[in-house]
Amino acid sequence: MDKRGVFIVFEGIDGSGKSTHIKILADELRRRGHNVLQTSEPSKDRIGNFIRRYAERNDRRLTPETEALLFAADRFEHVKKVLKPALRRGRTVISDRYIYSTLAYQGAGGVSLDWIREMNRFAPKPDLAILLDILPEFGLQRVERKKTVFEVSDYLRKVREIYLRLVEQGELKRIDADKPKTLVQGEVLALVEELLEKRTGKTGS
Ligand code: TYD
Repeated sequence: MDKRGVFIVFEGIDGSGKSTHIKILADELRRRGHNVLQTSEPSKDRIGNFIRRYAERNDRRLTPETEALLFAADRFEHVKKVLKPALRRGRTVISDRYIYSTLAYQGAGGVSLDWIREMNRFAPKPDLAILLDILPEFGLQRVERKKTVFEVSDYLRKVREIYLRLVEQGELKRIDADKPKTLVQGEVLALVEELLEKRTGKTGS
């Protein structure tokens, strides 16, 4: 029987409402008896903290290749120390961002997507990866804190294009996040329920 936990990822450009929807979903799954772990990338560990400090200083960028390497290093720690142990214990893991962020953000900076995939081969595939899709101009309006090095309209347009390509390739499921919150949440829950039913079906056979 498959006792491994369920792994769900949320993606989207800044201001797409990921944290709000992750919280609503996590609360709902906990109510239904799931042992939920909410986590995020960049991680709250050493490399993640370094990246966050770097991103907040929005004056000068490292090469996007170096960024991709840093995000992959942070992910390696996160996967090994947090994600895999939680999934082995049967926990439901919800991550705010994952490899698709590197593909979209560093890909938008011109880094080869094949190279990013290759260096992230260690990262287990999520059971469900949701794109909360929003136009960059709306997303940026919603970001109230100081903007990071990545939060520039033209850049985010490219980021979104790559995200949409990943939707076409079937790696991400798109939800229109410009709709009222309750509608978006309903769609999130529908996707998660579909996934959980599929898994129950599998484990029941
Ligand atoms: P985060 O703290 O998640 O910002 P937010 O709360 O606004 O979503 O992430 C910081 C920035 O890092 C964000 O602008 C996206 C960027 N990022 C990448 O460029 N590549 C990556 O692989 C990841 C995980 C994040």
